[in-house]
Amino acid sequence: MIEVVFSDKFLWGGAVAANQCEGAWDVDGKGPSICDHLRGGSLTKKRSFDRKILEGEYYPSHEAVDFYHRYEEDIALFAEMGFKVFRLSIAWSRIFPNGDDQEPNEAGLEFYDKVFDECIKHGIEPLVTLSHFEIPYALVEKYNGFSDRRVVDFFVNYATTVMTRYKDKVKYWLTFNEINFATLPFGALNVLGMLNEDTVDTHDPVDNLQERYQALHHVFVASAKTVIEGHKINPEFEIGCMLAHMTFYPLNPKPTDMMLVQHWDNHMNNFCGDIHVKGEYPYFIKNYFAENDVEIKFEENDQEILSAGTVDFYSFSYYSTNCASTDQGTELTAGNLMGGVRNPYLEASDWGWQIDPIGLRYTLNKLYDRYQIPLMVVENGLGAVDEINEDGNIIDDYRIDYLREHVVTMSDAIDDGVELMGYTMWGCIDLISAGTGEMKKRYGFIYVDKDNDGNGTLDRKKKKSFDWYKKVIATNGQDL
Ligand code: BG6
Repeated sequence: MIEVVFSDKFLWGGAVAANQCEGAWDVDGKGPSICDHLRGGSLTKKRSFDRKILEGEYYPSHEAVDFYHRYEEDIALFAEMGFKVFRLSIAWSRIFPNGDDQEPNEAGLEFYDKVFDECIKHGIEPLVTLSHFEIPYALVEKYNGFSDRRVVDFFVNYATTVMTRYKDKVKYWLTFNEINFATLPFGALNVLGMLNEDTVDTHDPVDNLQERYQALHHVFVASAKTVIEGHKINPEFEIGCMLAHMTFYPLNPKPTDMMLVQHWDNHMNNFCGDIHVKGEYPYFIKNYFAENDVEIKFEENDQEILSAGTVDFYSFSYYSTNCASTDQGTELTAGNLMGGVRNPYLEASDWGWQIDPIGLRYTLNKLYDRYQIPLMVVENGLGAVDEINEDGNIIDDYRIDYLREHVVTMSDAIDDGVELMGYTMWGCIDLISAGTGEMKKRYGFIYVDKDNDGNGTLDRKKKKSFDWYKKVIATNGQDL
């Protein structure tokens, strides 16, 4: 037992994204999104990308885990665990199939009405991500995504359409999932919808800095406008940003390693965080732009929009930490979005993501010190291979250990004085991995019978961690 530190209002729950769980990629008027063009991969094989969807080729998002047809069963299971909140995304191309359509697709809107009604029936608050790597593919081909300023208006139109429609059903919103992915050349497709002409895989970098950062500026403006308009639609809305927090340590106590840590922290975390929370480009990025001949074109009211559209809370994903080093020949390891130098004090998952619960306490304190607004951990979890044993059970003690240790350090951070709103563990039901497209990399409390090639019954089965999390929520984080 730990001392109770979580408030009664603490939002315990789980998180998914439409493209990784819904399936039904072309059902009821939905248009293809970026993800529908991605094939499966693995730790050693990058996901390849087809500009035209090929007949007979396997695309993991097309069926995913069929949440589209099984949401009632799945939400009932979340309710059985006692979820207070369920983070999901709306697939933009279910609402505006081409992104620039005049009218929304009513069948798509009705689907989310049903999903939110189901949540509400079970006393679960939906937390909705508006853009989780799901830009309508037509916007990529026609406009090269957010590199074209007109896409800002298409996004705001989509966001205000769904915010108006669900204003009495959804209170918590996030604008762009892991927006800081766009600061890396190979994150351009997911966040910005930008491609090089001859792109064949998702790691094909858009390394034209001017184009990439201008497109990211458009995303910042779209996010800020959404916050402004959202608050007009319902002043009770709480609208947050979402970053993949990249926590770095110096490999050695060398001053040059520490400078590198500061560089990565500024570029990967503080740049996007400051614009969302403070409404201004920070000094270090202006300097970086000047040194690299990047000139961001601000339209007349952009600065006012950024200043007025700051977020109500800061949310982030946290899976692991990495080291930074200026030495040559250091051992590298993988991680979410980017890897780094291996930390000799940490174990790693089978996918090389280093496990660091204490790093979460450090990160929460660091963020709260910088921003002084409520924080929320909206992704955290362990991607692992789960086996069904002879008795038909899945004993995922490794996952329980991972989650337990992170819940403990969250409670430590609350004890430190951090204002933490909630925790949505990633992939509460097994789903398609974003990074590799695999099913084998499972995060869930609920197992889904499906393999990497798409075979399986899609039946759901509770893992051991299901009952563990149920107990954690029932005791408000006391019995771990
Ligand atoms: C985050 C994404 O990057 O990490 C999720 O927001 C993703 O969409 C999660 O699934 C875990 O990454 P992966 O590659 O293990 O699926």
